[in-house]
Amino acid sequence: MSDSHNNTAKPAPPCAIVIFGAAGDLTRRKLIPALFNLAEAGLLPDEFAIVGFARRLDEDEYRKRLGDEARRHLTGEFRQEIWDWLAERVYFVVGDLNDPEAYVRLKETLAQVDKERGTRGNYLYYLSTPPSFFSEIPRRLDEVGLAREGDGRWRRLVVEKPFGHDHESARMLNRELLEVVDESQIYRIDHYLGKETVQNILVFRFANAIFEPIWNRRYVDNVQITVAERVDVGTRGGYYDHAGALRDMVPNHLFQLLALIAMEPPVSFEADAVRNEKGKIFRAVNPIEPDEVLEEAVRGQYGEGEMPDGERVIAYRSAERVAPDSSTETYVALKLMIDNWRWAGVPFYLRTGKSLPKRVTEIAIQFKSVPLVLFANTPVDQLQPNVLCLRIQPDEGISLSFGAKVPGPLMQIGAVDMDFCNEDYFHATPTTGYETLLYDCMNGDANLFQRGDNAEAAWSVVNPILDVWSALQPREFPNYAAGTWGPQAADDLLRRDGRSWRTLG
Ligand code: BG6
Repeated sequence: MSDSHNNTAKPAPPCAIVIFGAAGDLTRRKLIPALFNLAEAGLLPDEFAIVGFARRLDEDEYRKRLGDEARRHLTGEFRQEIWDWLAERVYFVVGDLNDPEAYVRLKETLAQVDKERGTRGNYLYYLSTPPSFFSEIPRRLDEVGLAREGDGRWRRLVVEKPFGHDHESARMLNRELLEVVDESQIYRIDHYLGKETVQNILVFRFANAIFEPIWNRRYVDNVQITVAERVDVGTRGGYYDHAGALRDMVPNHLFQLLALIAMEPPVSFEADAVRNEKGKIFRAVNPIEPDEVLEEAVRGQYGEGEMPDGERVIAYRSAERVAPDSSTETYVALKLMIDNWRWAGVPFYLRTGKSLPKRVTEIAIQFKSVPLVLFANTPVDQLQPNVLCLRIQPDEGISLSFGAKVPGPLMQIGAVDMDFCNEDYFHATPTTGYETLLYDCMNGDANLFQRGDNAEAAWSVVNPILDVWSALQPREFPNYAAGTWGPQAADDLLRRDGRSWRTLG
């Protein structure tokens, strides 16, 4: 949120948030701290409640644990009075997600909440559960009359990722959800869209006149989107070994970045206007044909290795709940072409992986070189191209590199940066990224959420890759050591085009 937004933002309307999977990690690490930050910013209404739905929990014990965890995961300072305000609005329903009786109890609890807290029948259901429950929960809610809107009451469904595991399953899930609720009630979350710097991409592009004229194939040589993670798979092997880097990161997080960079200006900032333009990008991506997959898409898996600070990392195949002969990729690099007038011929290179030397997410727009090097009879025979770099995290900011004369009698040119750093400028307290998403959902603003057709379109881009990769098992895994920048094949992908990845330190 910009300063001006902050100054005018009003508390959300009266509502209760029902968290399915309330005993889970996401609730403790992100949702509760985000609700705390919203309460502190005065953005939650007095008529507010949190209803935790979980299989087994001891209420007092859980309430205390929630407080301890909130303290631990808060991005700012803990303030007891804010926590007390929030804690007195916490209710619980204990039950199985597939037990119809539990939903009857939920209905009774919500009636009590409406009475005690004035939440007026407005419910935000947050599905922070295994994906196998994503269609069951809304169905059960509907059975007890908790899904339909009417009489001025709203009912919204926040669906966590992963939204399907391929094109067909995403289509199925959409169909099942739409049997119970309307598309306008579904908020498919992608936490990348909650990041300030991701939201800033559109502001950067459309609030400034000087960049848009050069934002196209005439001036841009290539775009590189990197989401490098230093972390390894850790304890998430059970999920990750079935997903892999492509499913885990690409059709959601990386494609959101791609769409924000590549889309046309929307006619307005209304959710559907923005989402229409994003959708056009997914549909304009030139499909990778099966026989091109091994050329245009690179997969990797890390073996044991060492981080730059000396920390040893065990091989992916030795991690907890990972098959010892796993062929799951922990790294992916892609070359995508967007077939439209703005981008024809400009490659978009995407890469993401775990156990890379450092955590860095950035989008680098590399511009074409000058048509002619003018500095004849000097040591300068090659100029570095200009690069505009949008740094998403960490060290959030934007820089533009250009050539400048190195002082001295010789004509020497060095690459220098104009740099904007978010923190220096705005002194903003870091947030979890979920604040804006929750607040927007309570206000019915779906701008930062995926629309169903776009989720399917994104899957349809990666589906041919998934198919070919599962049919042709990788023979060379592991093919990069933890603590290095990925497999050789990823470098070759760009080298074939006469380019190279940006060096990220
Ligand atoms: C999640 C993925 O969606 O995003 C994780 O499941 C990944 O594997 C995470 O680590 C990255 O998010 P962030 O905000 O740390 O960049």
